[in-house]
Amino acid sequence: MIDRGADGALEAGLKRCPLRELGASGVLIRVAFSSLNYKDALAARGAAGIVKRFPHVPGIDAAGLLVDDRESPPVLVTGYGLGTEIWGGYGDYVRVPPEWVHPIPAGLTMREAMILGTAGLTAALSVDALLQAGVDPARGEILVTGATGGVGSLAVMLLARLGFTVAAQTRKPAQEAYLRALGAATIVAPAPDDQTTSGKALSKARFAGAIDTVGGAVLAGVLKEIGYGGAVATCGMAAGSRFEGSVFPFILRGVKLLGIDSVQCPRSVRETLWARLATTWKLTDLAGIAQVIDRQGLGAAITEMLAGERTGRTLVALDPEEARPAP
Ligand SMILES: NC(=O)c1ccc[n+]([C@@H]2O[C@H](COP(=O)([O-])OP(=O)(O)OC[C@H]3O[C@@H](n4cnc5c(N)ncnc54)[C@H](OP(=O)(O)O)[C@@H]3O)[C@@H](O)[C@H]2O)c1
Repeated sequence: MIDRGADGALEAGLKRCPLRELGASGVLIRVAFSSLNYKDALAARGAAGIVKRFPHVPGIDAAGLLVDDRESPPVLVTGYGLGTEIWGGYGDYVRVPPEWVHPIPAGLTMREAMILGTAGLTAALSVDALLQAGVDPARGEILVTGATGGVGSLAVMLLARLGFTVAAQTRKPAQEAYLRALGAATIVAPAPDDQTTSGKALSKARFAGAIDTVGGAVLAGVLKEIGYGGAVATCGMAAGSRFEGSVFPFILRGVKLLGIDSVQCPRSVRETLWARLATTWKLTDLAGIAQVIDRQGLGAAITEMLAGERTGRTLVALDPEEARPAP
């Protein structure tokens, strides 16, 4: 739980609260797993615009069981207002509007659903957007930026699973083996900022498309490197929310810039993509990208995430026993 102290400073810690603090309306879920997303890290630091009121429990993802319907399959909630407008998945329970609740498809466990979580849905939305824009594996290599992050890792895996040739852009050259194991064919270092924000309006066309999780000057650079008729799915802002560019990628190469939102994305789209993630797009080695922590581990993981130092996905097990490494 995070709260503002009397001096306005942010305090974070574990607190026991009565269930009635979740309110009376909505579906009560006993949470088994949550995850750590970049937005959770920002929320946990009290970032303006994310947390609506204090005290607050972060956690934009949750998977668990319906308290009042023991026959129901396990369920998941990602985004909407979970962990932002209302208390989120780092509590033992969440109470949410029924329309936010999705049954976890039979092909996924609760653990797998939360290793995917918002990051998996966002990667799936991004891949789907590229496919709908006509970018298929025959068109050429696809760049993924912030490739060692949660969305980045899952985007690399999904693209490779679907037969794309993937170039992974990372600031962590030591993670080359990790990225190749996910399916990346090429490892790319980010260009220095002064090369991406200034100079020529277009660069050599290197990629058929891109999934950009980083934003800022990186996105500006990526747009210059997309070939004729290509597309960029943009979902992130880890390196900044503003970027400078020109219209030339759009009017000379017909490049499309595709906005990705996992928070308010329609229920029917989510259902389609979760069903795919459990079947035709199923990633079999999800455990390999997950670090499992309990709530005690959140503080350190959040600090690392905001410094861009974590790799892969962080699964948060509400039961500390589930966070212990297998014997
Ligand atoms: N639109 C949506 O619906 C949606 C949904 C989920 C996430 N997002 C956004 O997507 C981004 C990635 O989210 P995530 O949960 O995957 O976060 P994450 O696991 O922390 O990954 C972010 C990655 O971005 C790279 N990066 C580059 N510059 C950075 C910088 N200055 N500071 C920190 N990281 C930097 C790092 O990868 P390398 O070291 O490999 O370069 C880092 O691992 C975030 O901006 C998040 O807000 C948007």
